This record gives sequence, structure tokens and C-alpha cells, in this order.
Amino acid sequence: MAMKGILRPGLVQIRVMDIGEALTHYVDRLGLYKVGEEDRRAFLKGADEFDHHSVTLVQSDTAGMDFIAFKLFEEADLDHYEARVKAFGIEVEHIPAGEQPGYGRRIAFMSPSGHMIQLYHQVELSDPMPDIANPDIWPIEPHGMAARRFDHMQLNGTDVPRTLEFFTNVLDFSLTEKVEAEDGTPLAIWLSCGMKAHDVAFVEFPTPGAMHHAAFELSDWNAVGHAADIITKYDLSIDIGPTRHGITRGRTIYFFDPSGNRTEVFAEGFTYYPDHPTRSWDTKALGKGIFYYQRQLNEKFMTVVT
Ligand SMILES: [Fe+2]
Repeated sequence: MAMKGILRPGLVQIRVMDIGEALTHYVDRLGLYKVGEEDRRAFLKGADEFDHHSVTLVQSDTAGMDFIAFKLFEEADLDHYEARVKAFGIEVEHIPAGEQPGYGRRIAFMSPSGHMIQLYHQVELSDPMPDIANPDIWPIEPHGMAARRFDHMQLNGTDVPRTLEFFTNVLDFSLTEKVEAEDGTPLAIWLSCGMKAHDVAFVEFPTPGAMHHAAFELSDWNAVGHAADIITKYDLSIDIGPTRHGITRGRTIYFFDPSGNRTEVFAEGFTYYPDHPTRSWDTKALGKGIFYYQRQLNEKFMTVVT
């Protein structure tokens, strides 16, 4: 067992302007399951996730992301990372157990990009959770796009160079892939805390704290095609795809929830080991890096955020 410390992004809280419409998007179309609901929040999970929930939708006047939370291997990691974040010069807040149903205490801090990052260890198992005794491939037959789990976020914000320093030196992420300017300044970074091609990506942007997309994993390329069929059948607002990324190699399609938050469903991507070198793209090759088949950028993809 080699993976310790930060394991994966385990929870994201997304602001939506109409909870009912958002539930249609994330449950009926994307294929997540609702595990609970209160006054202004709904709690969702993917079929393959063991923890209580991975997506919180919160009713708001604006769209966007409130926070992304990463799960830690053990409780002692919370104190370890709190000390390191403070030593980097960033303030840490404490969120008591129970603020999210099923979740223990969390710590919260702002990354140099202007996004709230949280860390936690304790979370209850989901009920029902995926089978573990003579397990079937799914406990309930999938619906909608059959998203298996919350996978990663792309976050657009300020100061990517300092964000890179923070995530690699303080939070122990690896830089798997980057886009850099001619002078070597990083403009976009893909960061992994495990063996995925990325767990979070940051892109330099004029305003801090913006959400570019929340991504959910599908089984394969055929499932991405099935997602495209659903997008057209229900006339969902599409951004681009089905296509493939050069960066990460994911097979993908992007569309918008009714509040304007971008959703990605994707399959595949390269496997990363911590001894692998960082892959690098220059701005001239960016079209192929972002959309490998089209080989050119899409204005909406580069500029629309929530
Ligand atoms: Fe993505």
C-alpha cells in the first residue's frame, strides 16, 4: 500500500440556481444518485463510490463552486497538512463534523488561485454502498449517462505559478502535465495525488476562484457516445465533443447544467506513476493538446466559467 496522505478529490459543493432543475441534470441525465436533501442542499453520489456523498448541490443566486475537498488517508494527516499550509503563509479554518451529513471535521483554506480547498479524513460509508461480497458490477442497473464517480475539477484562477508551488511543495501533488509560455511560466497545470492523469487542473485566468468544470468518470468511449445521445435527446446545452484531449488523453464531452456550470463526462486517460516526467505543451501546440481531433481551441471553452 503505497498511497498515503491526500488520496483523491472526494467532495465538491456546486452552487445552482434551481435545485429541482439541477437534480434533473445531475441525477436523471448524468446518472448520479440522490442520498439526501435538506432545505437548500441536495447530496449525491456515483454508483461506484463508497463514501456518503461526493457532490453537494446548494441553492444560490449565483453558479460556481463553493469548495473542493480532498480525502486524507488518516486522521493525523489533517494536523500534518494544517501545519504545512500555515507554514506556507495561508490561513486555515476549521469546519466542525456534521456540517455535511456523514462527514467528520474538515480544514479549509484558499489556494493562491482563489479557490477554497478543504481536507478531511472521516466520512461514513454510503448506504447502500457498492457490493463487496461476491460483487456484481453495479448494485443497481445504471441510468442516464451512468457516471461512475466524481473524478476531478478544472479551476480557473489567478497565480498559477504560486498555486503550482503550493500544491506540489505543501500538498504533495505531482505535476503530470503543463502548458507553459515561451519564457517557461506555467499557464495551465494538471496535478495528481495518485495514479490518475490528474485530480485537479488550474488554468491562469483574469479573475480568481472560477469553476471551469466538474468531471465524472464513464466506463469507456461507447459511454461517451451514449452521453452525447442523451445530450441531444434532452436538448442540453453542449460545449464541445465527443472528442479526445491530447493533454491527459481523456475521451470526453462537455455540456452545461441549467445554472451554467460546465459538466464533463469522460473515459480513459494515461496512468501516472510518481517517477514519470512531467509532459509539457507549448502555446503553439495548445489546439492539439486541448482538442486532439479538432486541433483548434473553442472560444466558449476558453472563456465561459462560473
Ligand atoms: Fe476535465
